[in-house]
Amino acid sequence: MTKKTIKSPIPIAEFDSSYSDGGAVYSLPPECFTSEDFYQFEMNAVWSHEWFCVGRANDIPDTGDYYTITVGDDPLVVIRDRSGSINVVSNVCQHRGMLIVEGRGNTRRLRCPLHAWVYNTQGELTSAPGLTDKDDEEFNVKDVCLPKLRTEIWEGFIFCTQDESLPPLSDRLGNLGEQLRNYKMSELRAPEPLEMEPFDWNWKIFNDECYHCSFLHGSSWGDMFPLPQSNVDEEVKFNDVGRGLVSYNLISPHKDAAPTHTGSILQPAMEGLTDAERSQLSYVTVAPNLLIVAMPDKVKYFMWLPTGAKTSLYGVSWMYPESTLQRDDFQDNFQKEHDDLWPVMEEDVFAWRSCQVGFQSQHATRGRLTSDEKVIQRLQNWLIDKYRAEDSAADGA
Ligand code: FES
Ligand SMILES: [Fe+2]
Repeated sequence: MTKKTIKSPIPIAEFDSSYSDGGAVYSLPPECFTSEDFYQFEMNAVWSHEWFCVGRANDIPDTGDYYTITVGDDPLVVIRDRSGSINVVSNVCQHRGMLIVEGRGNTRRLRCPLHAWVYNTQGELTSAPGLTDKDDEEFNVKDVCLPKLRTEIWEGFIFCTQDESLPPLSDRLGNLGEQLRNYKMSELRAPEPLEMEPFDWNWKIFNDECYHCSFLHGSSWGDMFPLPQSNVDEEVKFNDVGRGLVSYNLISPHKDAAPTHTGSILQPAMEGLTDAERSQLSYVTVAPNLLIVAMPDKVKYFMWLPTGAKTSLYGVSWMYPESTLQRDDFQDNFQKEHDDLWPVMEEDVFAWRSCQVGFQSQHATRGRLTSDEKVIQRLQNWLIDKYRAEDSAADGA
């Protein structure tokens, strides 16, 4: 899957005004959200050289459980093998390219529908009709394996990378895991596995900030969880831009506040949280594609993946302790909170769609970012560092 390094199709100096180093900062060039050439460059610069999230380990708890996912042009299978390990392998048959499985399910082996080549749950070919059942000396079954991505689990999240030279994920996220330890994320579970849906906009549009909250969501979220800008703290401990960690806290007006029709959490508060944790919602982006929201009663996560310059996949999941999931009133409260937040979600989708349309116009420009958009400034720095590294690697190639 290693790709040739390529130079940025947008002159790399153009990014200087989007890089925050004390002065005015402007948004990325609109072509970063629309251009096919830039998309190819970015797939190298960011997605081929970083750990990214592909879901939750406890969405596939049993041997043989699997789901499929697409990153860029690469269809992948995430599958639990007999030893209990999770493998992320290409879903592309190594015979003549057919996709081996679709959706999600449980299987003892990966069997291609077209000519019945069979791979085990580690991606190794075990049989190929017409080859393995004949004495073909030139064919060695051990030579064929589904390409496998390097994979690590962090706090129950499955991460993978195509870059064998990257330091272990634990080097990057270990400190964040410590800071969030009271939430016991690896033990939390969603009532349903994550579902990713396709959308018609660039993956970077999902990057979250709270400058928009009191405007776009003024009468939806704002009526449930009042949000003067003083309640948004962008200088929280979770920030570590070098490691792609960008965050802010929403400080609650009272303990256990939440954006629901009651103004408070609807499920029980999680055990073991500090008073400060009971009084805040922590938004932590793990670049490039995961947003964790730690709340007093649950941890939500939002995950997105690129599938094209103007297309992406997006999914949202809410995770709870087992004791909450087992309550008789869980489903009822879950549905109420979902209904409370539906208008907020619709507003976000409206804005994301609309921004993509705007970026495609010849009149799209690079607007000045405000001091309330530190999240975007930090994410831009992280991205631009990747763009510069790829661009100069291509110079050296
Ligand atoms: S393409 Fe998969 S077995 Fe032929
Ligand atoms: Fe929003």
